[in-house]
Amino acid sequence: MELYEAFRGTFAARHFTDEPVSDAQLYRLLDAARFAPSGGNRQGWRVVIVREAATRAALEPLMLPTMQRYVAEQRAGVSPWNPLAPSPVSEATCAATEVPEALLAPLRTAPVLLFVFLDLGKVAAMDQHLDRIGVISGASLYPFAWNILLAAHAEGLGGTLTTFLAPEEGKVKAHLGVPEDYAFAAMIPLGVPSKRLTKLSRKPVEDFATLERFAGPPLGAP
Ligand SMILES: Cc1cc2nc3c(=O)[nH]c(=O)nc-3n(C[C@H](O)[C@H](O)[C@H](O)COP(=O)(O)O)c2cc1C
Repeated sequence: MELYEAFRGTFAARHFTDEPVSDAQLYRLLDAARFAPSGGNRQGWRVVIVREAATRAALEPLMLPTMQRYVAEQRAGVSPWNPLAPSPVSEATCAATEVPEALLAPLRTAPVLLFVFLDLGKVAAMDQHLDRIGVISGASLYPFAWNILLAAHAEGLGGTLTTFLAPEEGKVKAHLGVPEDYAFAAMIPLGVPSKRLTKLSRKPVEDFATLERFAGPPLGAP
């Protein structure tokens, strides 16, 4: 598959056929994904592969409150789970919010779930003393996670990078026996997509790239 074509076609797949994903397929994906960059080439990723129904059932209630707040804030017209602005939605509204089936479907029905963790003992968190939330550590993990999804796309599979379990990281780690120094980074459901998106909705380059200064002229199409 041509690389630029893969960028444009790797969509967030949340519904899957019943076709299983074999360990051999997963090995191929991970064997490609491991060439991702990471700070100091420390490669602090770990992947736990889950198929068991009991684990899925145990994790679903951990996700729900996070999804409820996400959906409630989305409906209120704000950027969900945003760290800069206090939530305009009450706890009670969040707790009463119905979660669309599409958000739960991947956990329930994907043939396989990849839980991706980052070894915090291997990150160079150069923004750790700044007065804002950290973003640099994730950069040593998410290229790897995205490579998994690109490789899956090349293999006719699909998936989504999901983070709804993040607030309950401690319980997720306890369920999967993950050591203390590892951070939950993503749950990636994988399978054969039951529908394929071909046209992804993204902002054009002119909307986010400027010359010389943040407020400089936009980089125009050649
Ligand atoms: C950091 C991150 C977290 C995400 N978390 C979730 C999630 O928890 N659940 C989910 O269904 N999708 C999640 N997504 C997928 C995004 O919703 C998706 O990438 C975006 O809507 C674009 O979808 P498209 O490629 O199909 O156009 C996440 C994506 C990223 C990059």
